[in-house]
Amino acid sequence: MQDQICEWKEFPKNMNNRLHSLCSYMAMFPPSLPHYFIQKYSKEGDTIFDPFSGRGTTVLEAVFMNRIGIGNDRNPLAYLLTKAKSNVPQKGRILSKIDKLSKECNMSKISIDGVEEKIKMLYNDYTLRQLVFLKNKLNWEKSNIDAFIAAMVVGIMHGNSKAYLSISMPNTFSMSPNYVKNYIIEHQLSKPKRDVFTLLNKKLDRCYQRPTIRGKAYNQDVTKMSKIKNSSVDLIVTSPPYTRVIRYGKFNWIRLWFLGESGKEVDKKLFFTQSITKYCDFMTKALNEMKRTLKSDGKIVLIIGDVEDRTSDNVFNLANIVLEKCAKPLGFNLVKPIISDSISDNTKVSKIWGDKKGNATRTDRILILNKV
Ligand SMILES: C[S@@+](CC[C@H](N)C(=O)[O-])C[C@H]1O[C@@H](n2cnc3c(N)ncnc32)[C@H](O)[C@@H]1O
Repeated sequence: MQDQICEWKEFPKNMNNRLHSLCSYMAMFPPSLPHYFIQKYSKEGDTIFDPFSGRGTTVLEAVFMNRIGIGNDRNPLAYLLTKAKSNVPQKGRILSKIDKLSKECNMSKISIDGVEEKIKMLYNDYTLRQLVFLKNKLNWEKSNIDAFIAAMVVGIMHGNSKAYLSISMPNTFSMSPNYVKNYIIEHQLSKPKRDVFTLLNKKLDRCYQRPTIRGKAYNQDVTKMSKIKNSSVDLIVTSPPYTRVIRYGKFNWIRLWFLGESGKEVDKKLFFTQSITKYCDFMTKALNEMKRTLKSDGKIVLIIGDVEDRTSDNVFNLANIVLEKCAKPLGFNLVKPIISDSISDNTKVSKIWGDKKGNATRTDRILILNKV
């Protein structure tokens, strides 16, 4: 299939919305992509939903475009990021809370004795004490201000510049504890003394923006999204898990520690399979649930990448498989021919393993569906 002209590539990738960069997330799509489809298939005041919301890209674009943005993701990290973007507090209130917390943070009273070695190896004791204080103090599930601050903390937890709190390491994902341990020894890395509150204020200046419309975020399994009402959604723009290599829990173990979660436990809740049959079962259930939430004239924009078989040279056109085996039997119709999008700048997660090992390919396909 020939590549179509993908008009969203003419837009600035981040749509000049700095808040998208609150925290990096694996397999995130560029904001220009949901922006394009939201503009094309909805109007102001409509409800836009992303049932696999990740870092909340669709939700944030929707609220910036005066639509109601609703996100859902089973990963607590994705839930936090979507929540923070769906209800942004006033800047002054965030600043006051950071100031209040920094005054309350009595370093001599905070113990880091119980913290696991794999976390201790990343942070200077001073920084770690502040992190432990915030980990215990922020009530991010209840308070929007705390959620915004927690999302900024996870955004600066690791990276390779002075804007980040850890030893020098990638910002996008967490390498395995053993790999990091050996890397530290080999490169004789020392733990930098960084003040969390100072870096939070800088991060706020870098990324703060406030959409006028508020959205919502949920943390349910995509196959049972009881919080989303029947026939309430005008447009779904989403990208399901498909690469069969990404373990969203395992590769976020550092950020999840801050949320009091273990990567392993999170992965048990998320969908993951190597089997096309199981993938189709899952997508049938997910699409059926999306259908329930969609208004009769609503549409779904589904972004699914091709995947390579690990044992052969076969490449699966997963989007076409989902169309034929899941969407059509549920009564969905293809609104226009499948759009194929070559990813030129390798923003996909496969870069982590190099071109060979990751089995997400450089082709994404976009299905635009409506109910028959
Ligand atoms: C390709 S990512 C979405 C990325 C998103 N478009 C963004 O820009 O950040 C797929 C998401 O599906 C979520 N997920 C996996 N299994 C799930 C399930 N059973 N229910 C809900 N969400 C799930 C993962 O946590 C992940 O965030």
